[in-house]
Amino acid sequence: MTSVPSLAATVNQRVADALSAALPEAGAADPLLRRSDRADFQANGLLALAKKLKGNPRELAAQVVAGIPTGGSGAVIKEIEVSGPGFLNITVADEAIIKTLAERAADDRLGVPYADGTGTTVIDYAQPNVAKEMHVGHLRSAVIGAAMTEILEFTGEKVVRRHHIGDWGTQFGMLIQYLIEHPHELDHKSGEVSGEEAMSNLNRLYKASRAVFDADPEFKERARRRVVDLQAGDAETLALWRRFVDESKIYFYSVFNKLDMDIRDPDVVGESGYNDMLEETCRILEETGVAVRSDGALCVFFDDVKGPDGNPVPLIVKKSNGGYGYAATDLSAIRDRVQNLGASTLLYVVDARQSLHFKMVFETARRAGWLDGKVAAVQLAFGTVLGKDGKPFKTREGETVRLVDLLDEAVERATAVVREKSEKVGLSEAEIVENGYQVGIGAVKYADLSTSASRDYKFDLDQMVSLHGDTSVYLQYAYARIQSILRKAGEEQRPAAHPELALAPAERALGLHLDQFAEVLSEVAESYEPHKLAAYLYQLASLYTAFYDQCPVLKAEGGAAQVANRLFLCDLAARTLHQGMALLGIRTPERL
Ligand code: ARG
Repeated sequence: MTSVPSLAATVNQRVADALSAALPEAGAADPLLRRSDRADFQANGLLALAKKLKGNPRELAAQVVAGIPTGGSGAVIKEIEVSGPGFLNITVADEAIIKTLAERAADDRLGVPYADGTGTTVIDYAQPNVAKEMHVGHLRSAVIGAAMTEILEFTGEKVVRRHHIGDWGTQFGMLIQYLIEHPHELDHKSGEVSGEEAMSNLNRLYKASRAVFDADPEFKERARRRVVDLQAGDAETLALWRRFVDESKIYFYSVFNKLDMDIRDPDVVGESGYNDMLEETCRILEETGVAVRSDGALCVFFDDVKGPDGNPVPLIVKKSNGGYGYAATDLSAIRDRVQNLGASTLLYVVDARQSLHFKMVFETARRAGWLDGKVAAVQLAFGTVLGKDGKPFKTREGETVRLVDLLDEAVERATAVVREKSEKVGLSEAEIVENGYQVGIGAVKYADLSTSASRDYKFDLDQMVSLHGDTSVYLQYAYARIQSILRKAGEEQRPAAHPELALAPAERALGLHLDQFAEVLSEVAESYEPHKLAAYLYQLASLYTAFYDQCPVLKAEGGAAQVANRLFLCDLAARTLHQGMALLGIRTPERL
């Protein structure tokens, strides 16, 4: 593993050094280098700095320029000039671009360094609810969470996954009581049940028990007593509860599997996993005065959280009937994650509609001392998935759309797209099916990951599987096209770089973009914004397309060295696309 400094970082450093030599009182000021249309980079930082120090920006810029060696053999910077009121326009040498890329290409990690000061992130994502159907909200948490997990791990962070499934609550009283009275309802006729069957068993049971619950007051009372038994840890009741959890897990895993996502059983620690801590959590909160009794309930109050009537809205940690709710569980989970798992960061990939809950939970944990300045608690809050009509996604009957149906439809449509184009490539039926799956699931994930998580987005399958525009299919085709060129070239070894060659504009643009991969990743890992990685990859595919249109690869006019150098760019572009897409959880078929 060699970490390769990007040209942007190298140039920034050179300018910063020249700047502090020209103006020692500026200290270690950042020249604020950006990619630019006019040259390769533009440094904008001098302007504000000169103004602050009451100097003349153009004079300062000229002094900085004088202090930077340019041209000459081996120089990174080819040209640097002052422009406008005091910007610097900087062009790097072609040779420097290819040399840097060659260092990236020589490294398995494409020169991406491990981040400084990594710690342990406990990430809470993919948390559906037992005995309930998964919906698009669960999709978002799973997709965004899985991508963040991969990205963080890639930067060297230790990541512990926690799937905080909803596996506890009063609804289990009703379900268990019904199962006791109808003992064979969850029996499996044949050995293996599919996820679909498991969910339909649970649905049937839920509807049937609900009907009795609503119609029969005596059953209602028995169900209520069953909740008490469950909370008291009665063995028979717990065993039945476990059957519901297990049946649900069959279903969850089938959906995660369809999503091409690796969710591991030991990481599934649902609400019930903290039962043993709830009492202590509440006791500590009460003893320390963080929580107080109000109308019989144990509550935490906040100055800035008020209802529409102006009255404070508390976080209820224990209800007046003695039951513990969602908040008690989350507070206990924080204690566990910080004290036992050693978390330095708690990351929650949860719907934005739960933001108030997390705000109150985090603040409570701070008051109780369970979260201190050394531990960051962050909700990566995501927006709502909307239908084409711009309203929260529902079926025509007003029911929430089943996630499985959506995924199946996405795969079906993607398969049609793949099939249509398959003749040219000569794909077998098995390849069409496999690619259709990878394209369809990729399309759903990419649509989710390519808009900023906090925004709502429209679930539009037509758009998602379109070959044009910002879609995963477009990226997958770009990748497959590169692979096809590399296959045609038929080289056994990775193509060699030729830094001595002059580059065409499209080659430079592609090269400079490839060089930014590590920086984009580190930004994404820090800001929890996977959409920036998606945007980077989309731009990469676009720049590759421009390069492909403008620069013949196998028939390059400049002879064998240029063919090799262009193949080298193709190869690095493919590897970067592949790596980036893998971090987003999206496959890149070799032939498409
Ligand atoms: N099961 C919850 C839901 O479906 C999400 C759980 C989020 N995680 C947490 N620690 N509260 O809305």
